[in-house]
Amino acid sequence: MRVSGEIVGRALVELGKKVKPGVTTQELDKFAYDFFKRHDCTPAFLGYHGYPSTICTSLNAEVVHGIPGKRVLEEGDIVGVDIGAFYKGYCGDSARTFAVGNVCSEVRNLLDVTFEALNRGIEKCKVGNRISDIGHSVQEYVESQGYSVVKDYVGHGIGQAMHEEPQVPNYGKPHQGPRIVEGMCLALEPMVNLGTDEVRVLEDGWTVVTKDGKFSAHFEDTIAILSSGPENLTRI
Ligand code: MF3
Ligand code: CO
Repeated sequence: MRVSGEIVGRALVELGKKVKPGVTTQELDKFAYDFFKRHDCTPAFLGYHGYPSTICTSLNAEVVHGIPGKRVLEEGDIVGVDIGAFYKGYCGDSARTFAVGNVCSEVRNLLDVTFEALNRGIEKCKVGNRISDIGHSVQEYVESQGYSVVKDYVGHGIGQAMHEEPQVPNYGKPHQGPRIVEGMCLALEPMVNLGTDEVRVLEDGWTVVTKDGKFSAHFEDTIAILSSGPENLTRI
């Protein structure tokens, strides 16, 4: 899990450097595919329930699961880049939302709040807490900043499969659900909207967008629960 996490984390850092006006999302996808091959990894998303690409690229009002294509990144866009890979049978999963050039201050703040929400969730990944302590902390923070958290998609356990039990919602009451125990690995992935929390899926069957067309951000890390506390496997 450490090795797959580190490779995924490094790929995401490299992808972040490539996010610039003029780049297409399929160029990012090609880079990720080649990066994983060079590092003896199998892309986790490619072919997953028929998903056609190595990574997901979700622009602006797209929340998650955007499919890379010919779309050219433009100054002022934001792009969520979500990637996952298996190394020797173990999965790492991580996402960042990058600003393309300069973005307006409201959108910059959305990115900062979503990253901070992820960090607050990670702080709750401690033996003795319960799964809903994570989502409670995420939701409380996001709503205190005037934004909404997506409820229709959740984080997840991760290991020899990308999606394992338990589900890890980004909302809820504290002290509910399964206990967090040593050795668990969890993928935390808050999706935060500037406006409504309501989302819908486009006709391509994948791309999730906000119903009001306002921007959305997504950050994800794979976390191992140790007796000493959370270890972030995908953050470089
Ligand atoms: N990265 C997503 C997750 O965090 C899964 C991507 S869906 C896929 O769970 F179909 F693209 F794989
Ligand atoms: Co995930």
